Amino acid sequence: MIVVAIDDEEQAYLAVLCDEIFGRANHIGTLIVQSKPSGRTTDSYFATCHEYLHIYSKQIGLPTINFLELTDEQKSQYTEGTGKNLFRWRDFLRTGGLSTPEERPNSYYPIYYLPEKKQISLEKTSEKQIEILPLDSNGRKRVWRKTRPSFLEHVNDNEIKIEQNKSGQWKVRIIDKIKEGTRPKSVWTDSKYDASAHGTKLLKNLFEGQKVFSYPKSIHAVKDVIEIFTEKEGDDIILDFFAGSGTTAHAILEVNKEADSNHQFILVEQMDYVESVTVPRVEKVIKKENLGDFIYCELMPYNQAYMDKIQTAQSSEELVALWRDIAENSFLNWYVNEQMPEEAVKDFIAIDDMEKQKHLLAALLDKNQLYVNLAEIEDADFAVGEEDKRLNRAFYGE
Ligand SMILES: C[S@@+](CC[C@H](N)C(=O)[O-])C[C@H]1O[C@@H](n2cnc3c(N)ncnc32)[C@H](O)[C@@H]1O
Repeated sequence: MIVVAIDDEEQAYLAVLCDEIFGRANHIGTLIVQSKPSGRTTDSYFATCHEYLHIYSKQIGLPTINFLELTDEQKSQYTEGTGKNLFRWRDFLRTGGLSTPEERPNSYYPIYYLPEKKQISLEKTSEKQIEILPLDSNGRKRVWRKTRPSFLEHVNDNEIKIEQNKSGQWKVRIIDKIKEGTRPKSVWTDSKYDASAHGTKLLKNLFEGQKVFSYPKSIHAVKDVIEIFTEKEGDDIILDFFAGSGTTAHAILEVNKEADSNHQFILVEQMDYVESVTVPRVEKVIKKENLGDFIYCELMPYNQAYMDKIQTAQSSEELVALWRDIAENSFLNWYVNEQMPEEAVKDFIAIDDMEKQKHLLAALLDKNQLYVNLAEIEDADFAVGEEDKRLNRAFYGE
């Protein structure tokens, strides 16, 4: 199991939280995603242009990582061959770090070449052979990319060629075959991760030009995470506990279509926009592409019903009546007196600020009882219907 948490640059404490929950030893990586290439102009010092993507596993070592498909720009560098056999020629001379004979003595050796027969060898057998040493453009000693045995294997496989450059120098080249993909890097700067273009605008287009959600993620950031950690044609269950506008569901549906996989998703969202944004978004994507179906359920409210009533109350009297009701019928916080002494009621009315009164009343409710707990499903007091019970049993596979 892989856990992914996306973190705003300002809220860098998420990594600390994840370390505590999953254990630092299970930390797979923290990526930087350039989600706002232009930078935030409202910042006082640096213009923030990124967010963090923290990845943890339940048990380090178990998850495998898939390589990302090459970009068009990367593919365009392989100009020889066709299809899966595309390749390019690269210099056989190693430059940069660890490229001196002192550092890699086994990779410093002469190569002999007989131009008239295009013969490549490690032995000097004729005066007509040209000796080629690994020297850089400044004449400094370097090394070849491979040791002798490995070089000979490449010669046998026709994967080495020797040619003269414009200034007449002999150059050794080795074949570089196109790879199926590249190991994902820790900094993601591709323009497809721009949350404005591939989050906000994408969502606007789905909702006939209306801006229905602030700061959705780029669908490509989520798609790439899914593709990196799931099998092609796989059937994982992906949970997004903070669904927001539903980018995760959208991304999974697209991956399913493109990679012929059959992933399922569970989204959780607490805000009312689940009805106006999250659910309609998933419905629209499914309908547009005919991509299966999903069900949407609401938790059965218990104290939450009181929370809603507190929010819509119009007067202090209404709030006091609600308080009585709550004290008699719901789960109050453990430290709250179930009796309502007249003194306390008087103090409450004297506050003369309904917002403050609402906050106080909301604080009395036990937040662990906002919804009916599964363990209470058979409790007659909650009067859970048979259909709801069946649905719960099916969901939990009972
Ligand atoms: C930053 S948004 C996610 C945005 C989303 N990735 C997208 O692209 O649309 C985080 C969401 O988590 C929701 N959330 C926060 N705490 C929650 C909780 N305890 N239970 C359910 N949802 C929660 C918030 O209401 C908010 O919609």
